Amino acid sequence: MNPLSTYHEPVMLQECLEGLLIQPDGIYVDVTFGGGGHSRAILDKLTTGRLLVFDQDPDAVANAEEFKDDKRFTFIAANFRHLKRYLKLHKAEKVNGILADLGVSSHQINTPERGFSTRFDAELDMRMNPANEKTAREVINTRSTTELQRILGMYGEVMNAKTAAEAIFSARHNSQIETVNDLKDILMRYAPKHRENKYFAQVFQALRIEVNDELSVLEEFLTQVPEVLNPGDRLVVMSYHSLEDRLVKNFIQKGKFFGEVEKDFYGNEIKPMKSVTRKPVEATPEEVAINPRARSAKLRVAEKI
Ligand SMILES: C[S@@+](CC[C@H](N)C(=O)[O-])C[C@H]1O[C@@H](n2cnc3c(N)ncnc32)[C@H](O)[C@@H]1O
Repeated sequence: MNPLSTYHEPVMLQECLEGLLIQPDGIYVDVTFGGGGHSRAILDKLTTGRLLVFDQDPDAVANAEEFKDDKRFTFIAANFRHLKRYLKLHKAEKVNGILADLGVSSHQINTPERGFSTRFDAELDMRMNPANEKTAREVINTRSTTELQRILGMYGEVMNAKTAAEAIFSARHNSQIETVNDLKDILMRYAPKHRENKYFAQVFQALRIEVNDELSVLEEFLTQVPEVLNPGDRLVVMSYHSLEDRLVKNFIQKGKFFGEVEKDFYGNEIKPMKSVTRKPVEATPEEVAINPRARSAKLRVAEKI
């Protein structure tokens, strides 16, 4: 068994590799290195090619140890919102394929003190990069009710977002809300009976998106992708919730995040990418049975026009 397999089991590995159309001498980017599952498989397919990887979480660096002497491999400890800048810095202005496996790793979820999981009591943190200032604790304790309602409603699709926001607001008058259990205790009476886990998962998803600025980061990243790919080269993205998938889908199909595709004088669509997968690819039931995280994954492949 791979020693790192407990860190994160790569989702839809074969589908990602096929989507990238890997050439052995090409330059590839994995913007979400995590446990390195996808990266390792990409490297296996390269001869003289290069692989540049990003991860903003310092915990992920340890997983790159096995590649540290591999001249084909470059680890970039940064947020992929700075894709273009770092590729330029590492002399890879143009690349042949980009993989993004969005969201948090199993390692992040399963490390109690990171505060991502509803299963463990810990300080409300949820930063993928612990050097960032914004934490879940700060969001919960300082935002107005309107702002909390927006976060819970928009990012978590929490159905009683207003009530939950008001409950948080009034609870924090007595004392700061410090921990996962503090927050769960406040919201427990508003969680639908027998569906508490799903409710808290939505609340936590909302906070995580806000803390890590996930949707604007994704938009910034996607906008840079066509600038670093050559025509015919591929982008493969896996998302785990509908808000991310909608941004990816709109960008691929329309070249923008909202509204309709623009057309030129002759009626040709103006967009930098075209879809390779008509519908998003989903994991097989066999994979989901082994790796439950794969259940919500939606994979889209696009090609630079
Ligand atoms: C789902 S895991 C990737 C797992 C990886 N594909 C594997 O096989 O092990 C996502 C990883 O991307 C990182 N990440 C998420 N958003 C990021 C961002 N905006 N910039 C850099 N890294 C990010 C997280 O820290 C996490 O380690």
